Amino acid sequence: MPEIARLGQVSAQQTQRRGTPPSSLRARLRDDARLQSPGWILLPLRAFLGVTFVYAGLSKILDPHYLDSGSPLGVHAQMVHAATASPIGWLVSVSADHATFTGLAIAFGELAAGAGVLLGLLTRLAALGGMLLALSFFLTVSWTTTPYYYGADIVFAFAWTPLLLAGDGSVYSLGAAIRARVREELHLTPQPTARETLAARDAVERRVLLRSGALAGLIGGVTVLGGTAIALVRRTSTGATLTPTPASSPAGTGQPGEDDGSSTPSASSAGSGGVIAAASEVAVGAAKSFTAADGSPAYLLHPSADSFVAFSAVCTHQGCPVSFVGPGFRCPCHGASYDGSGQVTGGPARSPLAKIPVRVVGGNVVRG
Ligand code: FES
Repeated sequence: MPEIARLGQVSAQQTQRRGTPPSSLRARLRDDARLQSPGWILLPLRAFLGVTFVYAGLSKILDPHYLDSGSPLGVHAQMVHAATASPIGWLVSVSADHATFTGLAIAFGELAAGAGVLLGLLTRLAALGGMLLALSFFLTVSWTTTPYYYGADIVFAFAWTPLLLAGDGSVYSLGAAIRARVREELHLTPQPTARETLAARDAVERRVLLRSGALAGLIGGVTVLGGTAIALVRRTSTGATLTPTPASSPAGTGQPGEDDGSSTPSASSAGSGGVIAAASEVAVGAAKSFTAADGSPAYLLHPSADSFVAFSAVCTHQGCPVSFVGPGFRCPCHGASYDGSGQVTGGPARSPLAKIPVRVVGGNVVRG
């Protein structure tokens, strides 16, 4: 700071000669120095991680498949699959036996970590939570990704480290606001001074911790109660709508689970033997997405004039939905690829896409 002050005096004298008030220059130098503090430097990273983890947590809570233990897109299926290759497979297997609890803990953990750094409330603790979550994802979901840097989780784990070390630097921080209030109540100066006793500092830290914890507990409690209710209701309602209906059910009833947006009835609304598409609707070499009987995404392919095949669009690596990129499939999550017969051609997946039996009846492609 003495250098800055000296610089301020020299520049002030120079600029005074040019007519600029020295106080404005000093203010600018102070602003420059402030913007170079860790709190401001880490602000973009903090915002990105906060928004991303809040988004990830909310996506899980609002995903109707997430807690559905029968869905290949659910957290249970993902954990069972991850356990086979993870170095902490035994722990993942135990967690899979309590998939609902584990799934909610993951979702709310992401929400808490994201909200904590966004609000600047117990920021270091939130960063530690975010780092541990990212590390656990790296050891499970991303473990078989090669090369390792294709998986985002290892990057997230390291991205949390600066926030764990430096905190929020009192920039846009609820914790800093609480600390300022406590110091005021204790009749202390806004910033600690050299003459301040250890006992006074301890009193401040104790009160800040208690109030921050109480506020975090209040926000967390309301979020957990509301989020759990939403997640369980979403799972229950999905379980009802995903139950295959009899083959005689009217097609195209608009039930949830029909995702291809076409007027053609999907398998989910028609059950086994239901119409997936009119044979003429899918050109040779093209594909049509539909919803399988269990509510998961699937693709119908028309590889040659007289044949149709269908595959589950659930990636066998970690359950992300794959896209048809003719003539094969590609998973956006970790880059697995499959050929037109569902066989793995690249990436971390080791098993082929699940085949769905189909046949042509009366000009329609039906399941079965
Ligand atoms: Fe990992 Fe598809 S889920 S590659």
